[in-house]
Amino acid sequence: MLLHVTQVLTAQEIELCRSRLAGADWADGRITAGYQSAKAKHNLQLPDDHPVARELGALILARLEKNPMFLAAALPRRIFPPLFNCYQPGQSFGFHIDNAVRYPRSGDERSPLRTDLSATLFLSEPDEYDGGELVIEDSFGTHSVKLPAGDLILYPASSLHQVTTVTRGARIASFFWLQSLVRDEGQRRLLFDLDVSIQNLTPANAEHPALVQLVGVYHNLLRRWAET
Ligand code: NI
Repeated sequence: MLLHVTQVLTAQEIELCRSRLAGADWADGRITAGYQSAKAKHNLQLPDDHPVARELGALILARLEKNPMFLAAALPRRIFPPLFNCYQPGQSFGFHIDNAVRYPRSGDERSPLRTDLSATLFLSEPDEYDGGELVIEDSFGTHSVKLPAGDLILYPASSLHQVTTVTRGARIASFFWLQSLVRDEGQRRLLFDLDVSIQNLTPANAEHPALVQLVGVYHNLLRRWAET
């Protein structure tokens, strides 16, 4: 499942991110690439432990921790500290699958994290650059994603994906991975659908016994499937 989460950041927060990133010293994006993907990756990236990455990463995580749609879809157990990249004209990242396990080099928790989901938070507006689409292949086909600044796309980390060549302007984004409480994509999807249905029913039927039972089913499925 691909999930588009709108307006994770406000206009002011996007502006703050953009001004901090404009003054930062970017490095070659291959610093976090695996052996094979390093050959396909041509972009700029902030080092994991860069103070700007830490400051803005904390802001993004604080917003996501209060975003009901993101939480319902991801059921996050641990989130990798957000990273930041920039594609300039001629830069791209060819088709690849993200590493299955990541070792955070900043933040409090340094133990390895299994990447169940990948996320990209767009920080440039679509009209600021040409090219730079995030193209994701899943069992339903190929999806080309280019979102307004402040919006996020969440997709299975097991998917083949690429960022097409930027031909004008600069594409700035934050990206990260997360380990979900529910490892299995199908189970996570069922829980999300159930959660959304419950949320839609709740305003008009908050006291209905069947709704109480549905909420119970949600929690009992989560209890059965969650790994903590
Ligand atoms: Ni990737």
